[in-house]
Amino acid sequence: MTVVALVGTQWGDEGKGKITDVLASKADVVVRYQGGNNAGHTVVVGEQTYKLHLIPSGMLSAGTTCVIGNGVVIDPQVLCRELEYLQTGGISTSLLRISENAHVIMPYHRVLDELEEAQRTVKIGTTARGIGPAYVDKYMRIGIRMMELKSPERLEAALDRALPFKNSLLQKVYGHPGFTKGELMEEYLQYAETLTPFITDTSLLLHQARKNGLSILMEGAQGTLLDIDHGTYPFVTSSNPTAGGAAPGAGIGPNQIDQVIGVVKAYTTRVGEGPFPTELQDATGDLIRERGREYGTTTGRPRRCGWFDAVMLRYSVRVNGLTGLAVTLLDVLDAFDELKVCVGYEYRGERLLHFPADLHVLNECKPIYETLPGWNCDITGAQGFEDLPPNAKAYLSFIEEQVGCPVQIVSVGPRRDQTLMLEPVM
Ligand code: GDP
Ligand code: IMO
Ligand code: MG
Repeated sequence: MTVVALVGTQWGDEGKGKITDVLASKADVVVRYQGGNNAGHTVVVGEQTYKLHLIPSGMLSAGTTCVIGNGVVIDPQVLCRELEYLQTGGISTSLLRISENAHVIMPYHRVLDELEEAQRTVKIGTTARGIGPAYVDKYMRIGIRMMELKSPERLEAALDRALPFKNSLLQKVYGHPGFTKGELMEEYLQYAETLTPFITDTSLLLHQARKNGLSILMEGAQGTLLDIDHGTYPFVTSSNPTAGGAAPGAGIGPNQIDQVIGVVKAYTTRVGEGPFPTELQDATGDLIRERGREYGTTTGRPRRCGWFDAVMLRYSVRVNGLTGLAVTLLDVLDAFDELKVCVGYEYRGERLLHFPADLHVLNECKPIYETLPGWNCDITGAQGFEDLPPNAKAYLSFIEEQVGCPVQIVSVGPRRDQTLMLEPVM
């Protein structure tokens, strides 16, 4: 019995979906604890590629119970579509469970996400999925929870609480016509028909699973630098992807998490706006983007690409309490003669070893690089760590040393069998 939290250590898209899928074969339960369908997790199983936004990537492993935890914000329309997508593809969804406490994304959240982004002079580049506005309502205590979809009376009462606020804002500030209770009721009661059988007390489910000696994998979405508290605020998402968010987002105690694995790309990417010290706006960045097929799973936007940033990773190791790393997309670096790793930042003539919280400082930071030799060969067929060329091993050792955390998993391609387990995780 073990509980493992798996978190993104950069700006998202580190390959969490793939690593979750690989570990899910050993986990009895996989639980998502925050975010919503702003996430896009691509998982390759055999010849098939799956793109998941809300349902935990563990769903692709037969026999694994998958939980959408209370900390997630759920767009029921997207969830119904995703259920159908999996069922059509022959994937059983019977072991999905949805927290009754999870908050619901409403059409006014999606509209507000777009209107608010348009209003910003400095854009965040949100995914426009209504994530931020749904969390606003949760904290304003006018959110609608999944349990309220269970009966028309409860949904109506919840809308009576929320809708006057939302319509005033839409109509008076943005000149939008707003929404009627009737249209929202009609739409959401339809989703409720599909979703109600899955809605339950998932905190209790996890507690009982643990008591029965089962293994639990907690799947984070987004990444540490997108965390509302620890990320590059305000260019962040509206939840806590960091490991600390896993306990309240799933309803377990923090002392019950045994290991925290940080998923990290062998380089860095970011989608959306905000600072990115090691960004490469040149042919090298383009080559990384093409080799890594770095285009967003959710919005299709080209991802910004750059070298590995050890300063940032040191920070991620610290704020997540990482016990191990899963290094992904190492094969993308197969085509480079030399590789650069940022080992410090230069700020006004000073050498910084710690990631600065202040964006004014971060914006002025210049990366200090160390150059390592590339390996210039195809590693996608490696079956074990011993198959990696010496320079690839040296690159991984250098990262371990720089960030002070052991590498436990190395991924050399999108498929399940392109995963090297250096030390068992679950
Ligand atoms: P997530 O949001 O963290 O789950 O990551 P995404 O799915 O958005 O992006 C990661 C992309 O990299 C996906 O298209 C994966 O199929 C792919 N991928 C994952 N691991 C590897 C790897 O080791 N090598 C290569 N070439 N692709 C990988
Ligand atoms: P996964 O789980 C990468 C980014 C958006 C934007 C910012 C805020 O696939 O790693 P939001 O819609 O959340 O209010 O947008 O966060 N963002 C992601 N970037 N991967 C993700 O998820 C992301 N989810 C949100 O691009 O910059
Ligand atoms: Mg993604």
